[in-house]
Amino acid sequence: MGDTFARKRLLGLVSGGVLAQCCYAVAELGVADLLAGGARPVSELAAECGADPVALDRLLGDLAHFGLFRHCGADGYELTSVGELLRTDVLGSLRQTAIMHGEEVARAFVAITHTMRTGLPAFDAVHGRPFYDYLNEHPVVANTMAEAMGAVGPPPVLARYRPLDSAGTVVDVGGGDGGLLAAVLTAHPALRGVLLELPGAVRAARVRLTDAGLLDRAELVAGSFFDDVPGGGDVYVLARVLHNWADEHAVAILHRVRQAMPDRARLIVLERFRSEGGGSVTTAMVDLLMLGLMDGRQRTEAEYVALLDQAGFKVLAVAPPAGEPDDRLIEAIPR
Ligand SMILES: C[S@@+](CC[C@H](N)C(=O)[O-])C[C@H]1O[C@@H](n2cnc3c(N)ncnc32)[C@H](O)[C@@H]1O
Repeated sequence: MGDTFARKRLLGLVSGGVLAQCCYAVAELGVADLLAGGARPVSELAAECGADPVALDRLLGDLAHFGLFRHCGADGYELTSVGELLRTDVLGSLRQTAIMHGEEVARAFVAITHTMRTGLPAFDAVHGRPFYDYLNEHPVVANTMAEAMGAVGPPPVLARYRPLDSAGTVVDVGGGDGGLLAAVLTAHPALRGVLLELPGAVRAARVRLTDAGLLDRAELVAGSFFDDVPGGGDVYVLARVLHNWADEHAVAILHRVRQAMPDRARLIVLERFRSEGGGSVTTAMVDLLMLGLMDGRQRTEAEYVALLDQAGFKVLAVAPPAGEPDDRLIEAIPR
């Protein structure tokens, strides 16, 4: 029978996909949003989200064992602090992440053995094209992805970045839904911002910056960082972009930034580093996602410094951990 702890642990891992799909069902049906005001009976929830009441009762009851809901007797169910994060409008919401995982990611990882045999992303084999090309052709998915990334929030380490105090323009390359740009513009009222993104993310960024009342200080550019990067900035940001790409593509992006930026400008790269010994479980999970989805990888500090060197940058500093334990800020200048 083997060791009971080991057996339970492995069963938890091999059945993790079932739980992920059940979290997806909660997210897709909007159940957590319906519970925002407190406990509600299953019959009401089922009627409002268009679910079968018996199936929904079983889903919520079973997920209560995994810490997402609390059973409140005749009053139905309420959210725990974990379940709260499946709501749409909470800080750090994981609703869109659960939807991405339940749909495109789950479909891609069915073919993970293809990646093992070929070294190529399973996503491309299943969806017929690379991840970001697919997003470009599926605006709804692109929006889900931009919101999922945006909900993670900007790494707190950026708020303390001194050169932004005296900068005129910051250019956020691959800036997602504009969350980081909004935080930086709010913290620096004299700063102007440029965001370069694929069209789907630009649409999400326009909404976000408009809602924040910052659109008049921001220019949104729909385009590809493989083709052209806006010039004239004082600070360029590449946040959580390079880890999406294999080395040759990452260097190509850095080259484009290098070509566009004035000699006096600085580049900041925000990434989660893999430590020499391996790093955290979260970093390992992101690395697995990169393996199956898009030919990217989590890198060590030495690997990032080598990429920057190859693209003509001199690294000035690597900031110590802040926020998530493996997050780092690399500051570089043109060589
Ligand atoms: C992992 S997300 C990071 C987003 C944002 N910087 C953040 O930290 O939340 C990577 C971003 O790169 C963008 N991207 C991918 N290919 C691109 C391209 N060719 N040109 C511009 N942006 C691109 C994606 O749309 C996505 O928003």
